[in-house]
Amino acid sequence: MSASTSSPGRSVIVTGAGSGIGRATALLFAQEGARVVIADVDEAAALAVAEEVTRSGGTAVTAIGDLRDQAVVDEVTATAVEEFGGIDVLVNNAGIMDSMSAAADTGDDEWERVIGINLTAPFRLTRAALPHMLAAGKGAIVFTASEASLRGSAAGAAYTASKHGIAGLTKSLAVMYRDKGIRSNAIAPGGTITNIRVDADRGAHGPGALAPYMGNVGSPARAQEQAAAIVFLASDAASNISGAILPVDNGWSAV
Ligand SMILES: NC(=O)c1ccc[n+]([C@@H]2O[C@H](COP(=O)([O-])OP(=O)(O)OC[C@H]3O[C@@H](n4cnc5c(N)ncnc54)[C@H](O)[C@@H]3O)[C@@H](O)[C@H]2O)c1
Repeated sequence: MSASTSSPGRSVIVTGAGSGIGRATALLFAQEGARVVIADVDEAAALAVAEEVTRSGGTAVTAIGDLRDQAVVDEVTATAVEEFGGIDVLVNNAGIMDSMSAAADTGDDEWERVIGINLTAPFRLTRAALPHMLAAGKGAIVFTASEASLRGSAAGAAYTASKHGIAGLTKSLAVMYRDKGIRSNAIAPGGTITNIRVDADRGAHGPGALAPYMGNVGSPARAQEQAAAIVFLASDAASNISGAILPVDNGWSAV
């Protein structure tokens, strides 16, 4: 086992790699020699990141589509296997915010959209990737969870439920695949400068109502700071770490 975080030649899938934390993660993996599947619903953004990788001498391919669609999940997995011969690392990062609404103000549309993208899609992609990792006897899965995986005051009902679900999935995988060479971890970012937006009009129970409970949120992170934690958790340097939810939040969760 090497204590290095570099991953030459490894096959890595990064979802939501067209922007923000996913983009920074894809670029960092590629810089370290990994071959990267850039998965995103935004084709132009994904192609731009893939070009950025190849321009700097790295290897990347794109897999485009909405990850709520099982066919897209299958396409992402097939792309990694056909282009790079397997799946060493899966980074389940794509996600959206909610409208910061309380449960009584959360409609079915919002609930299903947020749970579909933030929780069901990562579950399905993990389910599709696992047979390949099991066949290889190794694999690392990293989720982008959230401060909203750790507390009830960081977002609305749908987002908080989706990200607590990701924390549970991270731990379940760590236990059930513990003896199969597969590790599962998550980062829990605090506020991070990306393109993510509250996805609807802020509800009456939005940030104003949550403010007294939020604590001191600290300084926002750069996407690269989240990427560094993801690449570490996926690396052999983290070989004995599994089931961890690592806050990358300037100490917010410690307040
Ligand atoms: N930025 C923050 O403050 C923050 C804090 C905590 C957690 N997070 C989490 O970080 C992750 C990445 O978000 P970000 O802040 O980089 O946002 P971002 O909006 O900059 O990037 C998200 C990317 O995901 C893609 N995406 C969204 N829905 C998709 C779908 N259905 N199928 C495929 N791709 C899809 C988008 O096109 C976009 O390129 C999310 O899971 C988010 O919940 C962000």
